[in-house]
Amino acid sequence: MRLTGLRRLSGEVTVNGAKNAALPCLAAALLSDEPSRITRVPNIEDVRRLIDILAFVGVEVEFASGDVVINPVGACDGALPDSLASALRASFLIMGPALARTGTASCGAPGGDVIGARPLDVHLAGFRALGAKIETVGGRTIAEAPHGLRGATMVLDYPSVLGTENLLLAAVLAKGRSRIVNAAMEPEISCLADMLNGMGARISGAGQHTITIDGVERLSGADHELIPDRIETGTLLISAVATRGDIRLLGVQPEHNEALLGKLAEIGADVGRGQDQIEVRVDADAALQATNLQALPFPGFATDLQAPITALLTQVQGTSIVHERVFENRMQHLDELRKFGANIIAGGVAPVIIGPTPFTAALVRGSDIRATAALIVAALAAKGESRIYGVEHLARGYADLPGQLRALGADIEQLPMLDTLNH
Ligand code: EPU
Repeated sequence: MRLTGLRRLSGEVTVNGAKNAALPCLAAALLSDEPSRITRVPNIEDVRRLIDILAFVGVEVEFASGDVVINPVGACDGALPDSLASALRASFLIMGPALARTGTASCGAPGGDVIGARPLDVHLAGFRALGAKIETVGGRTIAEAPHGLRGATMVLDYPSVLGTENLLLAAVLAKGRSRIVNAAMEPEISCLADMLNGMGARISGAGQHTITIDGVERLSGADHELIPDRIETGTLLISAVATRGDIRLLGVQPEHNEALLGKLAEIGADVGRGQDQIEVRVDADAALQATNLQALPFPGFATDLQAPITALLTQVQGTSIVHERVFENRMQHLDELRKFGANIIAGGVAPVIIGPTPFTAALVRGSDIRATAALIVAALAAKGESRIYGVEHLARGYADLPGQLRALGADIEQLPMLDTLNH
């Protein structure tokens, strides 16, 4: 990708549906033998990969203009080969529905960004509590519950997002009451629970520490709209502040981004919230100030925005410390940011950023979805034409970030494939 920086972003764009809500909601459709429709689905690589997986396990899927229609014509065969499992992290979400419906599920080691160890113990302990027998053979997880799943109290060692979702997906059809204690509270969990309740599930407390699920015999099909993508929202807001811009985002839920909005205001941006809109504005002569932050589970500052905001903090006055407390290996963007001129003192999961450092264009490579987004933020603030490689990561998680930025006035262009491959 080619990007010429120092263009002030201005204007308005509409945000897409949430990637990390689309994935569990697609998996939820496996819980019914009736057709389901999910709307506002972002056209991203991870969604397309999960759709391939759904087709493999025996359902018909159509995806057009943001609508996915899932028709579960075949039996849900929850045995996922390694090649499909490794395509994305959320492939493992096949386990919960398959176990609930057929009493058997197996999945190769799931893929996803290399940002830390990403174990599965929370998922497996929960499945065991629900009565499943679990074996792990050569990285492959095999689960059996020949007598069906029974409701149970599951106290999570960590409020894992996909872990909470998988256990919710398994428990909705279990016999009796389940409780997920120390559950993840991300808005994507509530989005999934809303979809399941719309299908006839009895879930209360989603979005809080404890979720209660009263198992039901069967679920009907769904008609469900996804929540807006709060990480795309955050990436655009951070991009605007990095260019001292003035933008309005439409179709968002400001309460999903409070931690970020608080930090942007602290830095010195003017932040406005409407019912489904957010505005940020930075005057050309405003003094932007350093801040410290910790990336935490929701409602803390989102780890998925840690790399993009680190890029922004290189451009503000003073010393900022960014402490990544969710993933232990999510600092791969720092070396690339230094190529633009960033002054960052390595500190393991808590680097110290000393700003402001005027950025000049660089040739850089993204290592995962959000690291690549951070390099775009950096290039927007850099003098001259940057080249960003590894944009295939971006396509996994953002429906059209370059297009949205272009609509806001950025000079950004996808490079021909050959140029991309040569780097
Ligand atoms: N963890 C465990 N045991 C488990 C599972 C996770 O200890 O069984 C730990 C992990 O090692 C990590 C922490 O829990 O330290 C958080 O992991 P979590 O399971 O919550 O992450 P995830 O569910 O695998 C989702 C998103 C990620 C996002 C994280 C945290 C999806 C598909 N992925 O991953 O999104 O960073 O939650 O919010 O929902 C992205 O979109 O770029 C992305 C990586």
